[in-house]
Amino acid sequence: MPTLTGPTRAVSPPVRASQHRTAVLEQAIARNPRSFRMLTGDRPTGALHLGHYFGSQQNRVRLQDAGVELLVLIADYQAITDRSASCDLPDIVTGLVADYLALGIDPERSTIFAHSQVEPLNQLLLPFLSLVSVAEIGRNPTVKDEVAAAGSTAVSGLMFTYPVHQAADILFCRANLVPVGSDQLPHIELTRTIARRFNEHYCPDAPYFPEPDGLLSTAPLLLGTDGQKMSKSRNNSIPLRATPEETARLVSRAKTDSERYISYEPERRPEVANLLQLAALCLGTTPQAVADEIGSGGAAALKAAAIGAINDRFAPLRARRADLAADPVYLRSVLSAGNEKASAIATRTLQRVRELMHQSY
Ligand code: TRP
Repeated sequence: MPTLTGPTRAVSPPVRASQHRTAVLEQAIARNPRSFRMLTGDRPTGALHLGHYFGSQQNRVRLQDAGVELLVLIADYQAITDRSASCDLPDIVTGLVADYLALGIDPERSTIFAHSQVEPLNQLLLPFLSLVSVAEIGRNPTVKDEVAAAGSTAVSGLMFTYPVHQAADILFCRANLVPVGSDQLPHIELTRTIARRFNEHYCPDAPYFPEPDGLLSTAPLLLGTDGQKMSKSRNNSIPLRATPEETARLVSRAKTDSERYISYEPERRPEVANLLQLAALCLGTTPQAVADEIGSGGAAALKAAAIGAINDRFAPLRARRADLAADPVYLRSVLSAGNEKASAIATRTLQRVRELMHQSY
């Protein structure tokens, strides 16, 4: 990984604590990867983009390859917290499976599944809801933001309960490691609270659920082509599977500035810095080195360098993805096998939960 000197933002104490914990965990993983079970997830709202790749996907593959057991969840219920289920869902979901396989998630070692297909996982939502108060959910920063963003539009009950559902996503398989961005830390905290309360209430002498750790990615935040956070819903992202021509079109419309000399100054020139960052990540070098190379070439040379770097770096992945996309039957079979594996785990967990809660008759 190149050293990245992004803008120094104020880091909140919980994020700092989590960064420290992440460093400790990385050492423990290096010593004994098999003592970890890692659960990660994505909402199926569109194709994976370069922000996902450098932010989280690459990290998943790295940990999988280091020997950590990996479960990847497609959060199709979570996707309907703020929108209706779209008729495109089946294509988006199989498209995600294609992205995962193309970028190196190995279906022989790892489990890819959709949580709507794993009934006992969803049933855990009921006992877990009994362990949290309405006020606690209302204080969850992500829920608060989403409620505020909804403005005068009605907020669904699912929006209100999704952090508890996310705890079920993590605890159904008793995962102890969850790689996340810092926006997800409140959900990990709630998951830990639920695990702890369950153990205190129902099995104080032999805790059943682990309290999972969030593992923060060290990758910088990539901006989209409009200078905002790269996001599927903002229509400013570069999809992993974009063709070289689409990539060129998307990068050429990216915001820059009018200074001819290209320098890496994230505070003063965030859009230029972002393209330098993107090119550097693709080339495995530093943004500074890319800037030095371009010098007085201006925005046109910068964009050409970024386009070339992205297209070269992702050519093999894109070729694999195109082959996979041509075989939807295979993609669906990978997902069904993952759903079955996850269901077997969830069934055992639910059975044990029922026993511990005196609900086995
Ligand atoms: N909330 C995550 C997102 O918006 C997706 C998600 C759902 C998830 N369940 C999860 C992430 C469990 C990690 C663990 O991207």
